[in-house]
Amino acid sequence: MLYAGIDLGTSAVKLLLMDSDGEIKNIVSKEYDLYFPKPGWSEQNPYDWYDQTIAGLKELLEGFDKSMLKGISFGGQMHGLVMLDEDDRVIRPAILWNDGRTAGETEYLNNVIGKDKLSEYTANIAFAGFTAPKVLWVRNNEPQCFARIDKIMLPKDYLAYRLSGAFCTDVSDASGTLFFDVKNRTWSKEMCDICGITENMLPKIYESYEKVGTIKKDIADELGIPGEVVIAAGAGDNAAAAVGTATVGNGACNISLGTSGTIFISSEKFGVDKFNSLHSFDHADGSYHLMGCMLSAASCNKWWMEDIIKTEDFGAEQNFEDKLGENHVFFLPYLMGERCPHNNPDARAAFIGMTMDSTREDMTQAVLEGVAFGLRDSLEVARDLGINIERTKLCGGGAKSPVWRKIIAAVMNMPVDIPVSEEGPSMGGAMLAAVACGEYRSVQDIAEKLVRVKETIEPDRELVAKYEAKYRQFKQMYPALKPIYDAIKA
Ligand code: XUL
Repeated sequence: MLYAGIDLGTSAVKLLLMDSDGEIKNIVSKEYDLYFPKPGWSEQNPYDWYDQTIAGLKELLEGFDKSMLKGISFGGQMHGLVMLDEDDRVIRPAILWNDGRTAGETEYLNNVIGKDKLSEYTANIAFAGFTAPKVLWVRNNEPQCFARIDKIMLPKDYLAYRLSGAFCTDVSDASGTLFFDVKNRTWSKEMCDICGITENMLPKIYESYEKVGTIKKDIADELGIPGEVVIAAGAGDNAAAAVGTATVGNGACNISLGTSGTIFISSEKFGVDKFNSLHSFDHADGSYHLMGCMLSAASCNKWWMEDIIKTEDFGAEQNFEDKLGENHVFFLPYLMGERCPHNNPDARAAFIGMTMDSTREDMTQAVLEGVAFGLRDSLEVARDLGINIERTKLCGGGAKSPVWRKIIAAVMNMPVDIPVSEEGPSMGGAMLAAVACGEYRSVQDIAEKLVRVKETIEPDRELVAKYEAKYRQFKQMYPALKPIYDAIKA
């Protein structure tokens, strides 16, 4: 049997074909545009997602026995607002997870409605990238669009809708909308009322590993696949990556170095931290998780490499292994503002500490280190909660860099396990499809049987001490710059 996992990312859709034993048969990636119409805004066109997914599926399946394809599922960029009118037309470009335009709406939700109420209804507070503040923003700024809303959905759910006709979402992705009661796995009527929408505008909720329907006949014919191919709900990309890296069970941890950077802590029990600094979401395995998310991670390096120093050869720029822990340059990675733990869409990136002898290499190194320090900020919150995290998996594009792996292990002071497949969300998507098709009993079962670690990076003791001192300095920088961010905001 064959299963396809579709990771609807921010820079590209990544598709993976896996057999019943978890062997990866093919991987395809198709890019699309990302638009920044104003500073801090971030949008994409859902039609591009669909067109590139279909083109990607055709390429993925080429040369394989298509009759063996049994299921398709997803990992998807979270929180994005997709709105359809009653004729299923996309009303406006999707507003993405890293969009910071909703500062006013976020403040209204957190301070006028109140964090206590939001946390009681949803287990979370408002962050600029979450879906509910975006709905409020559309209501306040584009009333003509708001009036046309028939359906509200998340990015990957748009694909499921187009492929199967099922208006559906899964618990992990729904958790990031702020319309969802995470503890009870159901929509919150209170939040719908606060934002002026009705519950029938929201999709039907499924567990991530459940079947939502089968592929539409005309699409099956176009792809040359059987009409019975199962479409499973799938998960938000971080929960899908957790499945793909076997981050299931109590205290298991995964760090993802993608466009965003996340630290994902799986938990069998529901829990919320006192200040809601970490997100409290449902997991794709039927349980729960806590997560810290920084908005710009591997994207900081991509920006620095491609847009600033103008190179495509990232590896060639990373020859500073002998200088780890010695850098005097710091980088604050807030290119799109920051979510966890600062919750400040107006934060901005900065280099600090350059002298006349600072080099391009020092700055490249600072970018990788700054991202690691940003992730450490979220780890600190988890440690303060008394959560004991002994080791972590690492996945995402940034996980391919040997020197970045070493920095992460030292800054976090824990062993970093690299799974055989670094394709977290697409692998997780294919695994969820296999569970939905009954090939495996549960998410835990498939994760245990299929996921293997190929390498472990132990934290280097000397480096841990050096980075501990650097992290203490880094930690002072955001509070010192906060008044400047307030002063320079548009
Ligand atoms: C998680 C988040 C990001 C996106 C990236 O809360 O916003 O990780 O899901 O795709």
